[in-house]
Amino acid sequence: MEIIQFDTQQELDAYAARYITDLVKAKPQAVLGLATGSTPIGIYDKIVQIHKNEHVSFEQVTTYNLDEYVGLQPKNDQSYAYYMNSHLFSHIDIPAEQTHLPNGMAANIEAECVRYDAMLAAQPVDIQLLGLGHNGHIGFNEPDHGLSGGTHVVKLKPETREANARFFDSMDEVPEFAVTMGVGSILKANTIILAVRGADKAQIVKEALTGPITTNVPASLLQTHPRVIVLLDREAGRML
Ligand code: GLP
Repeated sequence: MEIIQFDTQQELDAYAARYITDLVKAKPQAVLGLATGSTPIGIYDKIVQIHKNEHVSFEQVTTYNLDEYVGLQPKNDQSYAYYMNSHLFSHIDIPAEQTHLPNGMAANIEAECVRYDAMLAAQPVDIQLLGLGHNGHIGFNEPDHGLSGGTHVVKLKPETREANARFFDSMDEVPEFAVTMGVGSILKANTIILAVRGADKAQIVKEALTGPITTNVPASLLQTHPRVIVLLDREAGRML
């Protein structure tokens, strides 16, 4: 595991964006695994800047997002589909049919999970971008006595719904379920970039990176992956 600490959020964002766009330059047909939450927003802004200023094209890139809420339409401004369009997809030249998120509105959600896994198996992810939940979740893989390997439906923990409530008008509007790629799928990526910022994540960063490997801290399973790059701001890394 390579751990890089940055003095500022801007430096972290620039590093991650440069890493991802360098891959796209070297491999125009790259497959990117993408994440949501507040942490990657600055990274996506920088990717858009590099796309515009340096003419890095995403025309042949394919993307797979980690997760989506169950029951939110893509036009709902709290859905991850909406987030990805507004922060990244609408600002770069990637064709819509090459961007993928689990469909949280699927009538048959189990079949949707199977469909998503089949696509992932056919197009292995080159770089998977990850954020970190306060309870150690990655994607929406919540702490549990066991974790699913593939894409599955998950009931969100109360602490996760509370953490994400800041984006909704009220707690009642926060969905109770989500579809997420499993930890097994996440670990199949060639390279994983885990980006974490803020003092409120310092304790869970320490547990995830240096504590025992346990499904109670899903991010600790990243310790088993051969190519993880952890990008931290000063506050998130202060307990290491
Ligand atoms: C959500 C997402 C995760 C993300 C986490 C942390 O739960 N499903 O993928 O890592 O939030 O978000 P933030 O970066 O806003 O702290």
